[in-house]
Amino acid sequence: MSYLEKYDSIPVENVVDRVNLVNKGVWTDWRGFFKELRENRPIFITPKFVLVSLFPDVQEVLSRQEVFSVKLFAPKMDPIIGPCMLARDNTEINYREKSIMKTMLQLEDLPIVRKKAGEIAKASLDKSAATGKIEVVQELGKYVPVKICGDYFGFRGPNLETMYRWAKATQDDMFRNLTNDPKIHEASVRAGQEMRDYLTELLKRKKAQKGISISITTPLLSEEISFGKSTSSAPKDIFTRLATTEFASDIHFDDSKILTNMSMLLIGSVETTAQAITQALEQILKRPDILSKALEAAKANDDKTFDKYVWEALRFNPFSPFVVRLCESDYTLAPGTPRETRIPAKSVVLASLGSAMFDAGVVTNPDDFSVERPKYNYMHFGYGHHTCLGEHVSGVVIPEVIKQILLRPGVRLIPGDQGKIDYQGTLIPARFVIAYDK
Ligand code: HEM
Repeated sequence: MSYLEKYDSIPVENVVDRVNLVNKGVWTDWRGFFKELRENRPIFITPKFVLVSLFPDVQEVLSRQEVFSVKLFAPKMDPIIGPCMLARDNTEINYREKSIMKTMLQLEDLPIVRKKAGEIAKASLDKSAATGKIEVVQELGKYVPVKICGDYFGFRGPNLETMYRWAKATQDDMFRNLTNDPKIHEASVRAGQEMRDYLTELLKRKKAQKGISISITTPLLSEEISFGKSTSSAPKDIFTRLATTEFASDIHFDDSKILTNMSMLLIGSVETTAQAITQALEQILKRPDILSKALEAAKANDDKTFDKYVWEALRFNPFSPFVVRLCESDYTLAPGTPRETRIPAKSVVLASLGSAMFDAGVVTNPDDFSVERPKYNYMHFGYGHHTCLGEHVSGVVIPEVIKQILLRPGVRLIPGDQGKIDYQGTLIPARFVIAYDK
């Protein structure tokens, strides 16, 4: 019996069983489940939420912020880091802060960020080489972005363990605490407060150094500011840029805003990058023909080609099957099409980025692994005005780390269950051990 046949056979009043069935489909077999939705019920109204599965409809939802808002994020995020861009629609906060943060995260920095990510990954791989194995989630997936957070964002934290804890506690609560467990929330509030206290002190020091250029001659994380070469034209880290930029008094971007946005950089970067690296890597290693072609591009140092393998691989196990929106007023989605559906106000809408990237109406032969796809077929980093702030940084860090892994001789999956990603009953990878030659 298909998912929808099973769903329809459950009495309408049995909301719990209906919702449980949908949850099971989404979390244990998202490709099979959404394929059925795309073909039969592309806009699927369940008793608890609405699932949107086709490419144009996902884009429509994510383009209409006045109808589909991010209001649901505010109660989760505000108590931890204060009002931030992801929890506000196209209001003053998102409009202003995203613009400022985009100015700080300069595209010109990307080559050095990529180089740095490669060096960090290589060092980690060298360290584990004697054992012939590496645990990817922690040793590369989280380690590299935490180092980049220290090096490039200018937020190194008191130590690595604390940075991992802050990143995980906040992400667990903001995006994965589906039952609103108070313990998970308390851990997140505590992490947010500790982070703010730490950043407050660091901000004072950054301000005191106003105008001074930054040196990276010392080892990573042994000094707060360590990005770029020690020349007067060296790029400054993001925190220093924020701390030393003077905003006119009528531009409402004070110290508290700096702290919120610096916190966002850590929270946004660690667990997400780890998940993307782990899941894309597994997809490549599972396909020997793809692995050898990707390796060819890696050996030729052809990043443009190599990176396409990574984004295509991630499509087969994407970062998140969907993003969440609240429908603020009655709205007809996909008007004028056979699937046109009225979505009632107050519905929770799950716009499935993962499903959209398999929509045959837009993505040619979606079940094939192809590096010929245009970039606009991908929505790994969301769509519309909440598109990921870290898109470009992650756009170089994720492929570069995977490139360094694939360049190891004899890199391979470990046979059997030992070699699969272990989610340990959660929604994000906890462990993924791969092998390579010593
Ligand atoms: C340097 C690393 C990262 C940083 C600093 C970061 C930060 C952010 C921020 C601040 C937003 C909110 C943007 C807004 O509201 O306008 C966002 C959104 C988003 N990010 Fe990232 N992110 C990072 C990495 C990633 C990665 C690796 C992925 C997945 C591959 C990802 C996926 C997303 C998605 C899907 C959204 C849209 C959320 C929505 O529309 O509800 N991010 N990110």
